[in-house]
Amino acid sequence: MIKKIAILSGDGVGDEITTQSLKVLNEIAKKFHHDFLYHEGLIGASALDNSGSGKPLPDETLSICRNSDAILFGAIGDPKYDQNPNYKIRPEKGLLILRKTLNLFCNIRPVMTYDVLLKRSPLNTERVKGIDIKIYRELIGGIYFGDKGTSDEKAYDYCFYAFEDVQRIGHIAFKEAIARNNNLTLVDKANVLETSRLWRETIQTMAKDYSKVNIDFLFIDNAAMQILLHPKNFDVILTDNMFGDILSDEASVIAGSIGLIPSSSIGDKNALFEPIHGSYYQAAKKNIANPLGSILSVAMLLNYLRLYKEAQLVRKAVYNTINYYKSTYDISSFYPIGTEEVGDFIVQELS
Ligand code: IPM
Ligand code: MG
Repeated sequence: MIKKIAILSGDGVGDEITTQSLKVLNEIAKKFHHDFLYHEGLIGASALDNSGSGKPLPDETLSICRNSDAILFGAIGDPKYDQNPNYKIRPEKGLLILRKTLNLFCNIRPVMTYDVLLKRSPLNTERVKGIDIKIYRELIGGIYFGDKGTSDEKAYDYCFYAFEDVQRIGHIAFKEAIARNNNLTLVDKANVLETSRLWRETIQTMAKDYSKVNIDFLFIDNAAMQILLHPKNFDVILTDNMFGDILSDEASVIAGSIGLIPSSSIGDKNALFEPIHGSYYQAAKKNIANPLGSILSVAMLLNYLRLYKEAQLVRKAVYNTINYYKSTYDISSFYPIGTEEVGDFIVQELS
């Protein structure tokens, strides 16, 4: 099978972790006789600094992505832009424009625990054993993309959602709930926000067509607390862009390290796969970043390409890495190995 894969490693540790994912893809290609055609593009601070386009998403990168069967993304952001508010164009804007332009409205972030890592979680073992949560985050609407502006020491960000925006991701989340255990939790702030009331009404209306699904409605502040107190009460979570951003970072601590969490962002024509962690600049070029979030994103990518056997094999290799403690320091503090060595171990497992 021939597939075109856009490779956007981005900033910080993006390059190192994506390199491991490419080794994994190459091994899969070899083993199953696929042709993966890679096309690299600049994005984020690396595009601002090196592309000469002055854009965090150069036109060339966008067209590479448009013409791909799937996009593998590394990480984005550079502290030099965080510390200087005078930078008007921020690296993150590259990813946001890409999500919006390709209509990647549905972001899926699975959070699960692994038995050998239970002690890595700051929560007690009983509480986190067997956790398997899937967060469905709306990705191209809400406060991220509403009108925004500043004037005279004032600033605003407008939050907007339409019924259809909620409905299209709602259908996907309901279907996932049915494929799992018929449980869906909508997280919003319907006691305060109009947009949240729209979310609630939309999901309540849709619920009639999904009568088997039990729906919980939680306010975001309560959800943020409940997910740490009773993570087992969560199964499929559906939420808006901003709440999903925050809740997914929070939920990642349950797994023991944010470095473990992959994600997929799906639209009608394109799909992007990325670990949920950021560019982690302090770790860049030190060979210490955890590549498993990226490699598990590769498994999601293979699944999306309907290469189910291949995806399963990658996941299995990742489980083995974790089970044999062949991992980076964030999850294996006694005998940590490097980013590169984790990649090598997984390739060896695959072969
Ligand atoms: C994420 C990140 C992004 C977001 C940033 C880098 C723009 O935090 O994917 O969760 O806020 O969506
Ligand atoms: Mg985030």
